[in-house]
Amino acid sequence: MRVELPRVRRARSSQRIRRYLACGSALRIRDYLIGSEKLVERRDLDRSAWLGANSPDTFAEHMPGKIHVIGHPLVQHKLTLMRSKETSTSTFRNLLREISMLLAYEVCRDLPTTKVRIETPIATTIAPMLDGKKIVLISILRAGNGILDGMLEILPSARVGHIGLYRDPKTLTAVEYYYKVPENMGDRDAIVVDPMLATGNSAVAAIDRLKESGPRSIKFVCLLTCPEGIRVFHGSHPDVPIYTAAVDDALNDKSYIVPGLGDAGDRLFGTK
Ligand code: URA
Repeated sequence: MRVELPRVRRARSSQRIRRYLACGSALRIRDYLIGSEKLVERRDLDRSAWLGANSPDTFAEHMPGKIHVIGHPLVQHKLTLMRSKETSTSTFRNLLREISMLLAYEVCRDLPTTKVRIETPIATTIAPMLDGKKIVLISILRAGNGILDGMLEILPSARVGHIGLYRDPKTLTAVEYYYKVPENMGDRDAIVVDPMLATGNSAVAAIDRLKESGPRSIKFVCLLTCPEGIRVFHGSHPDVPIYTAAVDDALNDKSYIVPGLGDAGDRLFGTK
């Protein structure tokens, strides 16, 4: 269920947008959409990245895709621990697995269920079960495997696909080196996982490739993203919702998310 915020908060929010735009500073927007347990927050969005020359009244049109920021305290607490450079590889790995289970919970919120008849030790009853087992988790290698492990604990019968992409250090574009997904993708709902949606180039390339196999639906799950990554991603794939634990401030000149958590693959596998 989506609960509308009181008018006064919306009004204040839109006044703030206008004020920031008027003085040309960075746009700070807190847009709350409170679902049954969900806090969706968009913050620190860069004006030029998001709005170009357009007025704030057209803001909604410049947010072409859906972003779900999982503001749950457990997720945020674990994310903070993961960000800390003092966190060891094994703790980082465990936290990523745990946080991914919590993200899976949100991503699966709208999964259809079907009623089945079962026998409890006490009585016969009709109870809901997930409708079919058609989920496919697609891991963008290599860091995607960290999220994959946690998600598979919640969705043990999901099929798994892998997309291997590396970032060309000069052009920062994505180059494919591996692609394997299950058959009959047309019957499946795909959840693509990669901890960092940074430049957006790898994610766009992965979704481009995945769409060739025609899955029934696609969702994208990451741990962290930034305005640049969202803009690039939804510029190409506005139909694919993003689920993330946070939208950070920006990319730095090496295309790392700031403040971020560093290189997710290195921190996960201890390669640096
Ligand atoms: N990939 C990472 O692992 N970290 C970043 O900050 C950006 C891309």
